[in-house]
Amino acid sequence: MASISSSSVNHLFSPIHHRNLLVPKSLSSFKYSQFNSPIRYPFSRIQATSDLVATVSEAITQLQDLGEHDLFACPVCFEPLIRKGPPGFNLPAIYRSGFKCRKCNKTYSSKNIYLDLTVIAGAKDYVEIQPSRTELFRSPLVSFLYERGWRQNFNLRGFPGPDDEFDMAQEYFKPSEGGILVDVSCGSGLFSRKFAKSGIYSKVVALDFSENMLRQCYDFIKLDDTISSSNLALVRADVSRLPFASGSIDAVHAGAALHCWPSPSNAIAEINRVLRSGGVFVGTTFLRSTSSTPAILRPFDQRISGNYNYLTEEEIEDLIKSCGLTNYTKKVQQAFIMFSAQKS
Ligand SMILES: C[S@@+](CC[C@H](N)C(=O)[O-])C[C@H]1O[C@@H](n2cnc3c(N)ncnc32)[C@H](O)[C@@H]1O
Repeated sequence: MASISSSSVNHLFSPIHHRNLLVPKSLSSFKYSQFNSPIRYPFSRIQATSDLVATVSEAITQLQDLGEHDLFACPVCFEPLIRKGPPGFNLPAIYRSGFKCRKCNKTYSSKNIYLDLTVIAGAKDYVEIQPSRTELFRSPLVSFLYERGWRQNFNLRGFPGPDDEFDMAQEYFKPSEGGILVDVSCGSGLFSRKFAKSGIYSKVVALDFSENMLRQCYDFIKLDDTISSSNLALVRADVSRLPFASGSIDAVHAGAALHCWPSPSNAIAEINRVLRSGGVFVGTTFLRSTSSTPAILRPFDQRISGNYNYLTEEEIEDLIKSCGLTNYTKKVQQAFIMFSAQKS
């Protein structure tokens, strides 16, 4: 109890803390100085204070409720957020909760079903425009069409399709089973839903920058009775600023996403930061033409690469290793590549 002090109280929480745990408001009115002194207080006096006992026990219950707060971190400073609201890692509980960074004093909340953990969440005047390959997927129409034909077209360029891609990814994720999986750039959540349904992970975070993709994801979840949503969260965030503490995540999946990111190097460095040692990253993307690409496919490849950032096999491997990930492996089929790597 040495670091506990009874300082000021704000409207959400008392900022009093010990390590990562908050001490709720109900404890803030107590004098902790007696606990900090050498053991010379008579036990009979403490026992006699039945109010104190009741309040301490209430506080312990509240601390237990708050025990789940720290998966999400502030995207500005990466300090684990403090959560106020119903306990549990599920859509309704997270939706009804408020989150606060005790360092930045910034608050975050759910908007339209997803928790907004972008740096500019709550900004009033500033609007950030990302590159067109990111902005494209924020469109309501593209988000609506994504699982209704858009994604199926990827098969023409060698993507095996969501079911096979999911099975392939699961093989790589074996060392992360039972842990926390983040589906980065989840789009409308076609893989997030499969990860959640599998029951293999303790928590699944479906994360994307597009508000409309996340809304689609929510609509698909609502339609599917087999998803309990008891281990699933929807989060808006930028892949270059992931809202998790360093080393807190067991698995990161990023399907068909690398070519859409504003800065693949910032994104993969960030994925490396949030993974725990031994954690696994699995990604897929489209490859850029190389000398081995059949000549007939090259003009098509060059033409559609206009908006996207397609890399070669060599560039992807170099990038992953430059960001510090190890045990790089890949599977390639036409323009499709699935790669995996581990945090050392
Ligand atoms: C082609 S979709 C992939 C969706 C899904 N993962 C799949 O396998 O089909 C690419 C996704 O990347 C997301 N994205 C683009 N830029 C992003 C960024 N800076 N941070 C997070 N996600 C981003 C887009 O919103 C879009 O949903």
